[in-house]
Amino acid sequence: MSNLLKFPDQFLWGAATASYQIEGAWQADGKGESVWDRLAHTPGKVLNGDSGDVACDHYHRYQEDVRMMKDLGLKSYRFSISWPRILPQGRGAVNQAGLDFYSSLVDELLAAGITPFVTLFHWDLPQALQDEGGWTNRSTVEAFLEYADVVTQALGDRVKNWMTHNEPSVVAYLGYLIGQHAPGIQDDMLSALTVGHHLLVSHAKALPIIRKNSPGCEAGIVINANFTQPASRSRADLLAQRELDGLWVRWFMDPLHGRGYPTDVLTGLVREEKLASPHLRFILPGDLELIAEPMDFVGLNFYNRDVIRSESVSEEENLPQTVFSQPKDDTNWTEMGWEIYPQGLLQVLGRFHFEYQVPKIYIAENGASFSDGPGVDGRVHDERRIAYLREHFKVAHQAIQIGIPLAGYFVWSLMDNFEWALGNSQRFGLVWIDFETQERILKDSALWYRQVIRQNGVAVE
Ligand code: FCB
Repeated sequence: MSNLLKFPDQFLWGAATASYQIEGAWQADGKGESVWDRLAHTPGKVLNGDSGDVACDHYHRYQEDVRMMKDLGLKSYRFSISWPRILPQGRGAVNQAGLDFYSSLVDELLAAGITPFVTLFHWDLPQALQDEGGWTNRSTVEAFLEYADVVTQALGDRVKNWMTHNEPSVVAYLGYLIGQHAPGIQDDMLSALTVGHHLLVSHAKALPIIRKNSPGCEAGIVINANFTQPASRSRADLLAQRELDGLWVRWFMDPLHGRGYPTDVLTGLVREEKLASPHLRFILPGDLELIAEPMDFVGLNFYNRDVIRSESVSEEENLPQTVFSQPKDDTNWTEMGWEIYPQGLLQVLGRFHFEYQVPKIYIAENGASFSDGPGVDGRVHDERRIAYLREHFKVAHQAIQIGIPLAGYFVWSLMDNFEWALGNSQRFGLVWIDFETQERILKDSALWYRQVIRQNGVAVE
């Protein structure tokens, strides 16, 4: 006997994408170069030499794509705007064709009864700004405000849900520590923290601009938080977990909620000689008060569990050196190498609401990479994705039952797309994309999701 776990009436079932990952048309109609165009065009930076030059060609196929979303029954759609499509040089001259594209997209969505959620910055910074230091340079904050103003003036009458930045920690650490993402710099902790800070300042300063141009809107930021667990109860593993979570989650959530930057993280970085001094000169007077500007919601990107183990050899050493995930078994992992652990979602949602008092939460991204493609019957039987989503939806339902104000759920992703440094090798879509022909096929997970949305609930055994 199956039982239907019902969601609240207004629950917003959706799907998410990002501009560079789906649009293609990298040089069309006056668009400027972005840091991701630059990185992807640099040999050796993206797997198999893939790029977002064409991606899903969504720029030319958006009408067909909105029809597909309507067919799926989506209630909402989260997408991002390409900053260099709007301001090719990052600031100054506005490219009207870029604004027209997003304006038409918004009109199509509204006509299809789909609520648009717009992310202003999902990583494709104009290269012209990067040439001046990008997010390490405080002047990029002012450029972002100019961009936010132009976009919200153009779309703010029709778009009522705004997300400033997507995953500031990833921009900072993958861009400046790990170097896997644009601008591809490694081991520069001071720059990484500077970038993170400028992202938060620009987020906070943009809020009143967005609210003025889009009366009655709601606005927030999108934070990524995995469920992290120490591998054992050893002091070293506990410290390693705390340190990693401190850098990736508390470093952003704390200041956004009026707690300033976590001092244990700072002293740890100085102790490990990753920073020369605990005095962060990029924090100007008033910044921390500013960053605590209340938001209407926080978007959470949740994918997996990370089990954290200290690499220090003896218990006495105490201080964790490096941290990493547990070895894999075959069943519980997606093709990204991410461990599937739905129960962790409850912990993170609970933490956002009960520890930080977040007033409203959207799951801004959740999904799985599995490469299942069309079989002889022409269909895509992606059972593993259905199982992944079903288990996470069940946890979302549980979260609502215990009073967590979860208002919507954006599956990552609407369609297979360009997965950053991993190119086209990872497929997260509900919809299959043939990157040669641009054919779109609704996977079985899409058909299953359509049923969930129709019933506003998940059927469980
Ligand atoms: C998130 C990104 C998104 C996508 C997923 C898999 O970190 O926000 O663009 O790449 O991971």
